[in-house]
This record gives sequence, structure tokens and C-alpha cells, in this order.
Amino acid sequence: MRFATKSIRVGQDPALSQNMAVIPPIVQSATFAWPSLDDIPRFDYTRVANPNRAALEEVFASLENGRHAVAYGSGMAAVMAALSLLKSGDHLLLASDIYGGTYRVYENVLPRRGIEGSEFDASRPETIREHARPNTKMVMFETPTNPNLRVMDIAAIAREAKALGLITVIDNTFATPALTNPLDLGIDIVVHSTTKYLSGHSDVIGGALITNDDTTGAWAFEHLKTEGAGPSPFDCWLTLRGVKTLSVRMERHCRNAQAVAEFLMGHHRAGRVHYPGLPSHPDHALAARQMRGFGGMVTFEVAGTEADARKVAESLRVFLLAESLGGVESLVGYPKLMSHGSMTEEQRLAKGIPPTMLRLSVGIEDADDLIEDLDQALRAV
Ligand SMILES: Cc1ncc(COP(=O)(O)O)c(C=O)c1O
Repeated sequence: MRFATKSIRVGQDPALSQNMAVIPPIVQSATFAWPSLDDIPRFDYTRVANPNRAALEEVFASLENGRHAVAYGSGMAAVMAALSLLKSGDHLLLASDIYGGTYRVYENVLPRRGIEGSEFDASRPETIREHARPNTKMVMFETPTNPNLRVMDIAAIAREAKALGLITVIDNTFATPALTNPLDLGIDIVVHSTTKYLSGHSDVIGGALITNDDTTGAWAFEHLKTEGAGPSPFDCWLTLRGVKTLSVRMERHCRNAQAVAEFLMGHHRAGRVHYPGLPSHPDHALAARQMRGFGGMVTFEVAGTEADARKVAESLRVFLLAESLGGVESLVGYPKLMSHGSMTEEQRLAKGIPPTMLRLSVGIEDADDLIEDLDQALRAV
């Protein structure tokens, strides 16, 4: 089966449910009856396993070309599950261009667990060698990055890390498996905030971890079962429904984002425009090689002051001013107060996040409406 078919059919055989239901019913039961003490059912307690979670995990694994997938109640729970492979005394190499929530874990949580960390520039994979310490165990990064939309060379990072025996973890939330399959490029563990494109409708929080490594897969399952960070059956059901349209949604997200980026490039009130689909983007050639589309995120700087950028954000009407990304509706985010709000101004500036920066999650509306909306908002300053 090919990608679009897998997202609709894998794990959802009508024969698996009662009454041959084409759409798997929601199995909300917390517990399941045992036929006898010698006959333990496949599902016996929903924290451990549930039919809706099992179906979702089967789809996640198949879309990422992985053998094992575990679904979580949030993307951060998936990130934490990957980090649970580290123990006191280990060292993590974290890409400096990373989601603010992951950075918060690195700054505030890992030190309390005795886990060391340092940052590296993932756009220069050869620097992994320089930064690695005798106790380094893991390299974690994402691509395209948030909010600068730099594209990292996944195969090169995997190669460098593997040469040093390090576990590689990628956050594939922005690219989605529709555009990039990191396991095929040598990565050990893929994590997702399925809250975003995978569910696609901004109506459920969720996460996933996918791997081809049997030991890691078994650990992730044990960790979930033990720490209890799993999603509810209804959340799994909603996510599974969203995943069915991932392929068509991503095509439209990419097309609309390209149109929006090209419009902004020609607008005198827009400063730098970050979109991997623009030939002027520093990683355009790499993105064209590594991705099956350039994604639905566009970041730009308003040519003016911080007050101007705030005015643009607040003047948009079709783009809603809100956290998050990856839903069918377009959103505008203000990294300074939203995704990267827990960093200091100094940290943000060092990471190339000025207070004039806006991040667009370009939805699947009519591109002309999105462009007209941006035009009127930019004219407001
Ligand atoms: C790239 C990335 N990873 C992880 C997360 C965390 O996901 P969640 O909000 O589902 O916990 C986010 C949330 O914005 C994100 O953008």
C-alpha cells in the first residue's frame, strides 16, 4: 500500500470491530473482562492497551516506515518518553534551534535528573564530533526548525551520530511523514506532536514515538504503561480520523504556504521571509532533495518595530491569533510570547527570533483569502 491508502486503511479493517463497522467504534471502556484466568485478553486495561490506541499506533508505525509506534497524550509526553532513555550522568546534545517546550525540558527538567546537556548547531552535522563528550548518549533535533524553518540534513546527522554510537531522535512534527521519513534516513527515534498536522483539526492534543529498534519500542511501551501518559480512546479516534486526510491536507498546506511566502517576498512591509520553498532560502536545495514538499509553515519579520509586528498580528482576520499549528485553519503566532515565550529576550535573539517575527501556520483555505488578509494587515501599519 502507498502512503495515502495506508493512512486510511492500516489498522482499521472492519473485521477487527463488531458489526463490520467501517469506522472503528470508540471503545471507551477502562477495563476488559477476562474469559478465564488462563485466557488473558489482548486488551485488559486501557492505560496499558486499548483498541483505538492500537489502531492509531499501527497507522503511525506504517506512515513512518517503523516497526513500533506508541501514542501519547501530548507531543511533550512523546519527547519525554524519548528522553527517558537517558539516565543520571548521561549527556544530551540538543539542537539549538528547537521548539521552546523541548528547550524548557532541557533547561529545567533534565538537570534535576542529573542529565547533562549542551547545544549544537544542527545545520553543521560535523560539529557533533566536536561537542560529543565521553558520556554523550543522545542527539535530538528537528527539521524544519521552529520558528526559523531551517532544514537540517537528516542523513548527515544520523551518520555523524552513528559513528559515535549515539541515539538519534528527531521531532518530525513540522515535516510530517507525508513529506519526510527520518527512519529511512538512519534516524533511531521519531517523535511527533500529533496535535498538529497528523490530527490536523486543532481539536485534540497528542503525541507519538516511532522506531525500528525492538529494544527501544519495548521500552517505550513499558514506559507508557508505567508512567501512564497515554491518550484517551476518544482522542485516538479523533486523531485516526484526522490522519486519513493527511496526504491531501499536506498538498494544500504546501501549495498555500508557497503562495503566501511568494506574496510576502514581494511586500514592502515584510522583512525577511523564511520558507524552504523559496529559492532564496539557505536550505532550499537540501529541502528539495530531502522533502516531498516544503511544508505549511511560513515565518516572516515585519519591516518595522515590535509594535508594528504586534499590530499586524492583531489586524489579521482570516489568520487567527493563536498558539499551535498544523490545523486546517490558518493561524498566526507571535514566537516572542507564544512558542518561545519561556526564553529570555537574549536567548531568543541569539536564536534568531526577533520581536518583529511572526509565524504563520498556513491552512487549507482559499489562498487568495489568505493573501488578501495579509495584505490588509500589513497595510494597517
Ligand atoms: C515541534 C513541536 N514539538 C513538540 C511540541 C509539543 O507538542 P504538544 O503541544 O502536543 O505537547 C510542539 C508544540 O507546539 C511543537 O511545535
